[in-house]
Parts: sequence; C-alpha cells; structure tokens
Amino acid sequence: MTKPLTPCAPRCEASGRSLSWHTFPGARRTGTSGERLGTPTHEALHFAPPPRTSERHPRTTPPNAPKRQQSHRRVESSHMDDVTRYRHVPVLLGRVLELLAPALTAPGAVVVDATLGMGGHAEALLIAHPQARLIGIDRDTDALALASARLAPFETRITLVHAVYDQLPVVLAELGLSAVDGILFDLGVSSLQLDETERGFSYAHDAPLDMRMDRTIGQTAADVVNTYSAAELTHVLRVYGEERFASRIANAIVQERTRQPLVSASLLAELVRASIPAATRRTGGHPAKRTFQALRIEVNAELAALERAVPAAVAAVRVGGRVVVLSYQSLEDRLVKRVFAAGAASTSPSELPVELPDHAPMLRLLTRGADQASPAEVAANPRAASVRLRAIERIRQAA
Ligand SMILES: C[S@@+](CC[C@H](N)C(=O)[O-])C[C@H]1O[C@@H](n2cnc3c(N)ncnc32)[C@H](O)[C@@H]1O
Repeated sequence: MTKPLTPCAPRCEASGRSLSWHTFPGARRTGTSGERLGTPTHEALHFAPPPRTSERHPRTTPPNAPKRQQSHRRVESSHMDDVTRYRHVPVLLGRVLELLAPALTAPGAVVVDATLGMGGHAEALLIAHPQARLIGIDRDTDALALASARLAPFETRITLVHAVYDQLPVVLAELGLSAVDGILFDLGVSSLQLDETERGFSYAHDAPLDMRMDRTIGQTAADVVNTYSAAELTHVLRVYGEERFASRIANAIVQERTRQPLVSASLLAELVRASIPAATRRTGGHPAKRTFQALRIEVNAELAALERAVPAAVAAVRVGGRVVVLSYQSLEDRLVKRVFAAGAASTSPSELPVELPDHAPMLRLLTRGADQASPAEVAANPRAASVRLRAIERIRQAA
C-alpha cells in the first residue's frame, strides 16, 4: 500500500523531487461521509458528483499558488485579469478531442492532462465529457494557479498536481488508480511562460536568464551559461538546439563571462547573433532561437523527463485507453515516435509461423505518421506551425 502524501511538502520518494496537490472546496472523499478531500489517499479519486451550479460560470475562486493550504483563498480580480490576458490558444484542439473521445465515454472516465498549462485542452475535455474526471499535472506553479481559476467551474471533477510528468506513476498510485482512460501531453512552453518576460524564456526581452518551468527548484539558464565548460555548452547547443554554430556560440559565451557573468536574456541573444556568420543571420528566424530552446531543454531536463513519461503513460492506460502527444520540436517527436512504434510492433520471433499472444502488439497507432496543423490554424496561431501530433490506443494487457 502506498503511503499517503502530506500536502505540498514531501520529497517524492520515487524521484527525489517535490510533489504537491491542489484540490478544491467541494471535492469530497467517498466512503468518509462527505469529508473534504484532503491529502490524496486511495479514496481521493472518488470525486464528488458534478456541481449543481452551471459549470460555465465560475462560482468559487482558487488560489494564487497550488499549495493545498492556500487552496481556499479567493482569487483577486487582478488574478482573473491574468487569466484572460494570458490566454493560451490550445493547439489541434478538435483533433485532440476527437482522438480521446472514444476512451472517455464511460461514466467516471479519468483523463490525465500531463501538461495542464493554461487549462485550454483540459477545459474542452471537461465540457465534452461531463461525467469524466481530470487529473491536471504541471511543474509550473503559476500555470497551475491560472488553470485552477479557469477550471473552477469543474472543481469537483478535477485534481491538480504540482509535479513533473515523469512522476505520473506516483501521482496515480497516490490517487489509488491502477489505470486511466486517456492521457494528453502538450509539450514545451506555454504562451504564459513566454509572455512573462521576467522568466527569461524569450530572447526578445531583457530579463534575467532563468527559464525554469518550476521556479521552486533547480538550476537556471544563468547557472548553465556561467558554469558549464565550452565543451558542455557545445554539446547542449548542438544536441538540444540542433545549432550548427554550437561551438562558436559556446566559445563566445565562455569568453564573455570572463568579463562579466551572463545574466540577461537580451545580452545572451545579442552575443549569439554576433557569434554566427552574418550571411546566416538572415535565415531561419531569430539567430538566438535555437540557443534559447537548447538552454530551456537543459535547464528543465525536458528530454530525460519525456523519455520516462511516455512509456509510463503507455503503461498507465487501460486496454482501450488512449495517449495523445503534441510535440513542437524534432527531438521530442522522435522520442515519442520511437516509443509508440515499439509498442505497435510484434515481438514474436520472426521464424515462428504464428504470433504468440504475449508478443502481439500492445498498441495501435491512431495517426499515420504525425498529424500537423492546417494552414488556417497556423495562420491564426503561429505556435501551431511546428506541432506534430501522435496518438495510440492500448489494445492488450501487458503479459
Ligand atoms: C504548451 S503548455 C500546455 C498548454 C495547455 N495544453 C493549454 O491548452 O493551455 C505546456 C505546459 O506543460 C508544462 N510542462 C512542460 N514540461 C513539463 C514536465 N516535464 N512536467 C510537467 N509539466 C510540464 C509547462 O509548464 C506548461 O505549462
């Protein structure tokens, strides 16, 4: 039996990282005579029935941070302004809903949004499936706070968790769930993170070089550029940014920091621009785009987390359950493709005339290659330009 987590605090035993829970007034444990849902336990997943008030009109207000002890605080009006100001347009929304729908028809179906962000996909899923329950995971406490405001009308059907998505098995175990019906990953950064200039994700603004999605822990981009060796920086820029001029940029960074620590996003962007040949500056967008992507991936250990999370998601869906992943760069998409393709292949020895049941494919691919956004969607939402969507259905139990 898993040990219940105490709210907000403990180190997650599985990963050594913190995991905190955000539940809502009105959410109740079943089997405990209507007691408020507290520290997640095995009962915690039995959500209360849908609220009596209209789900479209928020009634209660969630916290400024996803710590449970703050969860009953009313949202200030400026916070609600933020919700509308930073609205992130969900990418390939119709396709995501279409792909997950067959798995979410049963009453009480559970869908995990592993990258809750601003809650755009989550809100649409909750509206489309009035009997479904949603677990929303994000490593960014600001995103969780804003999403919780947006999703307040669904308070009794949601559980929001501050965690890295590779902690999915721990999250589900603590909620007493052995399997779920659908899982969505919408990878990368949100418009909120890009728009909040002080977070340093954007090369277009003068801001401290931070780039942590979870600002409660971990090294910043400034730590990386000021402490990594030239060889390490070259590796990061080449592998995660697919940057042709990785070693030139890395050497320029190492040179510059002998004069002064590199702490500003706009200064780094200018240094990158100046380090690459003038003739190449005019093509492929802003010259610092790939460097910033690479640093963000390194700071947040994004690929390592994804490498653990995608197999964990495949293992967590029941037979008939579905996993949908939206990737925005080729390294992520390749990783997803590899895991899905391996699950969709038979492992029967080729010399055998019949397929052994234990070696039959575990997954069915739901997309032919990767789906992309239509030109119309890209015109309306440039963020959709690079999206690659892949999806699977689980078709048998593990042996
Ligand atoms: C593109 S946004 C999601 C937007 C969301 N689908 C919507 O419609 O509003 C990606 C979100 O995933 C979160 N995220 C990225 N990597 C994560 C990880 N490894 N674990 C948990 N959350 C992560 C980011 O903090 C960000 O809020």
